[in-house]
Amino acid sequence: MENSVINHLPTDFTTNRLHVFDDALKASDYVARQIAALIRRRQLEGREVVLGLATGSTPKGVYEELVRMHRYDGLSFENVITFNLDEYYPIEPHDEQSYTWFMNQYLFSHVNINPHNIHIPHVTGPENHVKNYCDEYENKIIAKGGIDLQLLGIGRNGHIGFNEPGSCFDSVTRLINLHPVTRNDAQVYFGGIENVPKQAVSIGMSTISQARNILLLALGPAKSEIIKQAIDGPITPDVPASILQSLPQAQYIFDKNAAALL
Ligand code: F6R
Repeated sequence: MENSVINHLPTDFTTNRLHVFDDALKASDYVARQIAALIRRRQLEGREVVLGLATGSTPKGVYEELVRMHRYDGLSFENVITFNLDEYYPIEPHDEQSYTWFMNQYLFSHVNINPHNIHIPHVTGPENHVKNYCDEYENKIIAKGGIDLQLLGIGRNGHIGFNEPGSCFDSVTRLINLHPVTRNDAQVYFGGIENVPKQAVSIGMSTISQARNILLLALGPAKSEIIKQAIDGPITPDVPASILQSLPQAQYIFDKNAAALL
């Protein structure tokens, strides 16, 4: 850990909320251990746990470690309920670019989670149907008692989930228009920007903010500029992740490349 080099941030912040690791593997293992500890704690209490999950390149190492813990350390997912942050609209769930495919590929098909406990905001049909679907998704989260632990990545434009710059802090699950930076970054997976969906369903800023624990994971030099803005800059909807500064239950987990400009 290298927090000691970040000396312009308040000490209580760097001690309690900011965790900088030498490399992506160590950072991902730290996050996986936090998640596993919560799952196990709840099992001892005979309770379920509600996890908010992210996709993208960032959490792959976390899921890899959770799968390893399931296989070799006896970590059970029987008491786990999941809500994913977002999904493209429209997209087919079996498309390899869909977040439904991603979650099966990297986590769900490798662990003993009950399929009924998995929620991904995949919806088809016309936009008026989507509005009802989003309200139901939000209500399901509330009905399960809210999110115990929310895992987040961050877009290069500061988005969390697909809450793009300008997202209101009181927003809930809804259909959003994807920002040009987001579509540009996704084109490598879709084989060209013309194939990247223009919209997505995302849980809202308010939905995320109410999670009881929030872990923002950022890895690699491409995230260093936006991490500086999100942590050192003003709290503003222009940088949605900046809201985490105001949420004491939010922790930042970075590799040293993502933290390079702090
Ligand atoms: C994905 C999500 C997004 C990503 C972000 C970073 O479910 O909610 O906010 O976390 O776009 O993506 P990667 O990890 O691919 O850099």
